[in-house]
Amino acid sequence: MTAAILDGAATARAIKDELKAEVAALSARGVRPGLGVLLVGDDPSSAVYVRSKTRACEELGIHHETATLPASAATIEVLARVDGYNRRKDIHGILVQLPLPPQVDTERVLRIVDPAKDVDGFHPENVGLLVQKRPRFVACTPAGIMELLRREGIAVAGRRAVVVGRSDIVGKPMALLLLHADATVTVCHSKTRELAAVTRQADLLVAAIGRPGLVRAEHVKPGAAVVDVGMNRVEDPGQARELAGEDRSDQLARKGYVLMGDVHAPTVREVASALTPVPGGVGPLTIALLMKNTVKAARGFSS
Ligand code: GUN
Repeated sequence: MTAAILDGAATARAIKDELKAEVAALSARGVRPGLGVLLVGDDPSSAVYVRSKTRACEELGIHHETATLPASAATIEVLARVDGYNRRKDIHGILVQLPLPPQVDTERVLRIVDPAKDVDGFHPENVGLLVQKRPRFVACTPAGIMELLRREGIAVAGRRAVVVGRSDIVGKPMALLLLHADATVTVCHSKTRELAAVTRQADLLVAAIGRPGLVRAEHVKPGAAVVDVGMNRVEDPGQARELAGEDRSDQLARKGYVLMGDVHAPTVREVASALTPVPGGVGPLTIALLMKNTVKAARGFSS
């Protein structure tokens, strides 16, 4: 079997196209959606992600602004910036790009975000609402994956889903969304024994580990749908070649790294029925769902 490659970028475009008209209608009523971004420190990946998010705002006509703080910023300075966005009538959504520098109390920062503006879905109130199956703002990556599955006609109800990774940003909310969609859900993590034996049970496998190429053919049941959440920077030419199954030295020379997923695509492709690529899979969907949440915040939650 050769897996169908699920075009996340195309699905993201479709979602954004649907939002455009709503942004225009809200703006015509004097409620132009606005996103306030906070970027702390100089993590190169974070800077790239923030630029992709603000570019999407521009495509859709969403107002955006980015406040930047140095890597040395204290928790109190970060809190003050968030509070500034909380008080602004023209800022409907707030995004604090993670990770924050180690001296910053991330939990405290996420707790001070107005839950009504929490378009990342990281505030405890929104996490609680998701747990109770009354979702308001759901973390963008898992929400984007559910949207992809729905639009691609990949069944979830009654099937076995295995999520590898238990992060607050992806693994945990992903497991909850799949559970609420009536999958039988297992969550694996770094302490899981005989990982391959567990993941081989999955009709639907979500890899959100943060280790390049960890999921190989032996982890995948023939015919399973595989979603690759990994966004790993690989700088070693030999490793990049092995993981990609082809030479990537051009890209390495240009960027200094190659972006690789958690799934070893060259082998998994031969076993799975469907696979999301990296790049062009989950990444663009995350951004599309952030736009969707921002429009929802501007609208005042309905639907
Ligand atoms: N860092 C990695 N993923 C995310 C995300 O979805 N939102 C934010 N704010 N930071 C992240």
